[in-house]
Amino acid sequence: MYTREFWDKIYQKHFSDAPWMSPQWADAGIKVLENYIPPAPPQGDILDYGCGNALISEHFMRKGHALELAEISDQLVDWLRNQYTDVPIHLVSSPGDISGQDKYDFVIAWGVFHHINPNLWGQFLGDFHRIMKPGALLLISGWDDTDMILKNEKKLGRFTRQRVWYINMLDDMISWRKNEYDVLESKIIPVKLDAFPQDRMIRFIVARNK
Ligand SMILES: C[S@@+](CC[C@H](N)C(=O)[O-])C[C@H]1O[C@@H](n2cnc3c(N)ncnc32)[C@H](O)[C@@H]1O
Repeated sequence: MYTREFWDKIYQKHFSDAPWMSPQWADAGIKVLENYIPPAPPQGDILDYGCGNALISEHFMRKGHALELAEISDQLVDWLRNQYTDVPIHLVSSPGDISGQDKYDFVIAWGVFHHINPNLWGQFLGDFHRIMKPGALLLISGWDDTDMILKNEKKLGRFTRQRVWYINMLDDMISWRKNEYDVLESKIIPVKLDAFPQDRMIRFIVARNK
């Protein structure tokens, strides 16, 4: 279901009215980033994986960070390449499509994992580990069971229900990978936003083992 074609269709129809494309959403995301990344947004090379329209990346660009973006949607990547001519932008289906190792100090996967089939989460975590530098931070967020998608579950089917269910398992999945990651924080945080019907999100801050 969550293929490149799926996301291209979303971006053909909802380029500016998808909830995460609104500046209010970026503001909320940035507040969370500013409040919670210990001790301050890290310096160095950043990858914003599943960056959407890069509202969150812009915050880091303004602070002078070197950034790379990765997205699954052709449509969106064309748009991003026009907007950000000096920024490397990867068209990907998974982090496995990003070559090399030990490249990034900070990887952001904000609002992405709940769109990924949970069967692939292990693979994603393995590839993030490969491209992160030792000690680098990985920031993950996802909705919990207040996800608006649950309210449409009859229409959207079993897989949707499962992925919301399983986001609670990501915490365990990361902590089982002790030889790769240390979980610095796993937290449910309230989000109160007019633009969003969800009430809570789950946020993980994880460090790659040195
Ligand atoms: C809810 S949006 C979040 C966008 C952005 N991170 C933000 O918080 O504003 C999820 C994004 O993940 C992208 N995405 C979904 N599956 C992906 C995958 N397998 N690889 C890379 N990006 C993906 C979608 O195209 C979409 O832009």
